[in-house]
Amino acid sequence: MTKFINSPLVKEVAKITFRLYDHGWDERNGGNVSYRILPEELTDYDDIQMVKRTIPINFDGRDLAGMYFLVSATGRYFKNIIDFPERDLGLVRITEDGKAVDLLWGYSDGAAPTSEFPTHLMGHQARLAEHSDQRVVMHCHPTNLIAMTFTQKLDEKIFSRILWKMQTESLVVFPEGIGIIPWMVPGTNKIGEATAAKLKDFRAVIWPQHGLFGTGATIDEAFGLIETIEKAAQIWTVIQQQGGKIEQTITDQDLLDLAKVFNVQPNRAFI
Ligand code: 13P
Ligand code: ZN
Repeated sequence: MTKFINSPLVKEVAKITFRLYDHGWDERNGGNVSYRILPEELTDYDDIQMVKRTIPINFDGRDLAGMYFLVSATGRYFKNIIDFPERDLGLVRITEDGKAVDLLWGYSDGAAPTSEFPTHLMGHQARLAEHSDQRVVMHCHPTNLIAMTFTQKLDEKIFSRILWKMQTESLVVFPEGIGIIPWMVPGTNKIGEATAAKLKDFRAVIWPQHGLFGTGATIDEAFGLIETIEKAAQIWTVIQQQGGKIEQTITDQDLLDLAKVFNVQPNRAFI
């Protein structure tokens, strides 16, 4: 029997949270991640069988009852998870009544799930309704994208088209475009509901003047989506630094040609 701290699941989350920090997208306690873990991935560990604590959640999680999530703790720094995974991460199971989580591992000094846990759970639920392989919700504060939410109209079509045209890869990675909610107070069920509503149509949602939510079937997929969006925003920023004058760009026809060859469905409301 192995200790859960040595599982590939904990290692993967510890590694990716450090990468997010290293990119400068998770200052202080900024950012959070939740990873839906399958019961069959948990059979080898002897230190996760007992419920250590039951932690109430401010959300009706009945529809997710019995599901396991590996979740970053509130107030903890992504910079530190790699060194203190058992303190700053927790493995939780949603209780039958959906009003709490049973802690099976982690949060060793009394921590609790991220303040954005309701948003994460609503996000998982929204994505799972259409995509049974949905497993990861990842939130971070990418610099260039946040800056763009000050200078650009908060319009999904306008934003998506800019990001698509900043690099050839964008449309292939997020052909549906990107969702945007209005500025809202974080850590509330209201922002969770607004985000989840967008996640029905988009895998990534912008929180203006705050950050980004990315989702996916794997840690790599969610991270790769965030990376690609922020890279496009960075290219946009550099273009402005170079004077902002565009001599040539990717045309709408180029986008449609790309979609055809890479076999993705572009959001036709935006092209
Ligand atoms: P937590 O520390 O509760 O995860 O919050 C960080 C954050 O980015 C809030 O949006
Ligand atoms: Zn945040």
